[in-house]
Amino acid sequence: MRLLLLLLLLLTSLSSLFVGCSNPAPVTPVADDVDCNLSTPLVPGVPGSPGHLIKSARNPNGDSELSVLMRSFVDDLRNARTLAEAGEKIPAMYPRHRKMRCAWPTKPDERNERFDLRAQGYLGAVRAFDLEPKKSTYNSIIDGCVNCHAQSCGGPLDFIDSMRWQ
Ligand code: HEC
Repeated sequence: MRLLLLLLLLLTSLSSLFVGCSNPAPVTPVADDVDCNLSTPLVPGVPGSPGHLIKSARNPNGDSELSVLMRSFVDDLRNARTLAEAGEKIPAMYPRHRKMRCAWPTKPDERNERFDLRAQGYLGAVRAFDLEPKKSTYNSIIDGCVNCHAQSCGGPLDFIDSMRWQ
């Protein structure tokens, strides 16, 4: 009798193991970029670094490297969506977007572990879209933008939300 109980216990624990396997938790792909990650030192004096902001007609005071990159994301996504809707080939976005992990923000301490984790989550969504461009993967990218912007610099949240593919 005891043996039977033991066997039963073993079986249930085993089956819970199997259930665990067949029900994988949603994984966040980790962008494993050796040349551009949180520990990559930023080079002082490059365009967009503190004291060397990138001036433009839009912002004569100048923007950080990260700000300029963010605005290029907006353009990339508009372009990608237009092409996706037309069923045309879309240039991969990941190679450019991954640079967010080693770009100068306006406030250097904004580049911290929390930022980098969210950046990796965002970049996972970008890779998924690059592999399979469609409405749902596009909107996951927007979720990634929102996820970070809801935490830091909430500013363009409404604007980012307006980028959703309805
Ligand atoms: C991991 C965090 C993170 C993710 C993901 C992210 N952003 Fe940002 N974004 C920032 C930070 C931080 C700044 C402020 C940069 C600075 O001031 O140097 C910023 C700035 C911006 C700006 C303002 C640029 C300007 O004019 O100064 C826009 C617009 C923007 N992001 C849009 C987006 C969009 C669209 C996405 C998704 C495609 C996105 N962001 C994804 C953190 C993020």
